[in-house]
Amino acid sequence: MSREVARLSEGPGASGALCRASPSLALLKYWGKRSGRHNLPATPSLAVALEALKTTTRVRFAERDEVLVDGRPQDPERYAPFFAEVRRLLAAELRFHAESTNNFPAAAGLASSSSGFAALAVACATLCASAAPTESVRRRAAALSLGRLSALARLGSASAARALFGGFVLLPAGVRSARQLAPAEHWPELRILIAVVTEKAKELSSRTAMERTRLTSPYFKSWVRSAGKELPEAIEGVMHRDLERLGLAMRRSYLRMFGTMLACDPPVIYWAPESLALIRACAELRTEGLGAWETMDAGPQVKILCLAPELPPIKERLSGLGVGLIESCVGPSPDSHLEEA
Ligand code: DP6
Repeated sequence: MSREVARLSEGPGASGALCRASPSLALLKYWGKRSGRHNLPATPSLAVALEALKTTTRVRFAERDEVLVDGRPQDPERYAPFFAEVRRLLAAELRFHAESTNNFPAAAGLASSSSGFAALAVACATLCASAAPTESVRRRAAALSLGRLSALARLGSASAARALFGGFVLLPAGVRSARQLAPAEHWPELRILIAVVTEKAKELSSRTAMERTRLTSPYFKSWVRSAGKELPEAIEGVMHRDLERLGLAMRRSYLRMFGTMLACDPPVIYWAPESLALIRACAELRTEGLGAWETMDAGPQVKILCLAPELPPIKERLSGLGVGLIESCVGPSPDSHLEEA
């Protein structure tokens, strides 16, 4: 360990920082990037934080950047733009060791990269604001706004730009940072049932699948053109707490996103037989008058939005399909604190 790093990790004050963040579930989907190297989304996305799912990330100063997720070392390439931006923002040659754990299956279509990069951004800022070696770096870190941290997290994963905020969050197309539309308390009756079809990590990352869609799907351009049209309806649905209005826009968004994937060459198929069974069960529930509105991401899991009073009958029906069910309400913003040596 270099003398500088030893001094930082042994010195008075914090030895590390911890942040807990919830994944950001897209109600309207980001799928596809603008050209260039900045990881800017080609489509707008509207999302909700999932209270029941948590990523916990601990960060300390180190001699080189290193990230472990659920005990497994991660590819440094994936994290390089993120850490380079931290150093640029702080004008300091700091390096970080981060350990992240999830209370849910990672890389399985439950948006673990959104909460992962959001928690990493907040933990790095928290640590530097109080324990960076110089006063000027500490001041720069303390002055980082949520917008800046959202843009920083976006470099790791565009969905992470949204996970910097609790409640309902918008990330417009081509924009660097997300913003909160409404806090978690805005819709206390909203519930999200997460149907875990498999805990296995997906074979194809969303990043690879997204790029394949852009390069090979004949529907990609029309997807990008049409995606923004859902936004006003979905925002109205959220702001007026109108689940049907939101659900109809959500359904168009996720099914059109999968339409572009099915048309890839080779095709991208994330669905499992249970996914389709869940989609059909939600449609049946709706014909019976129960508001169960599903969505899916880059994996076979299905997430169902409903209102608290209707949760018991919906849960009962879906549990008959032999899948694990996690119940969530709308989640808060990430929280962080320093940890003493
Ligand atoms: C289907 O944010 O994981 O969940 O920016 O390449 O890291 P990268 O992609 P990522 O993609 C999320 C895709 C999605 C939809 C969404 O969350 O909006």
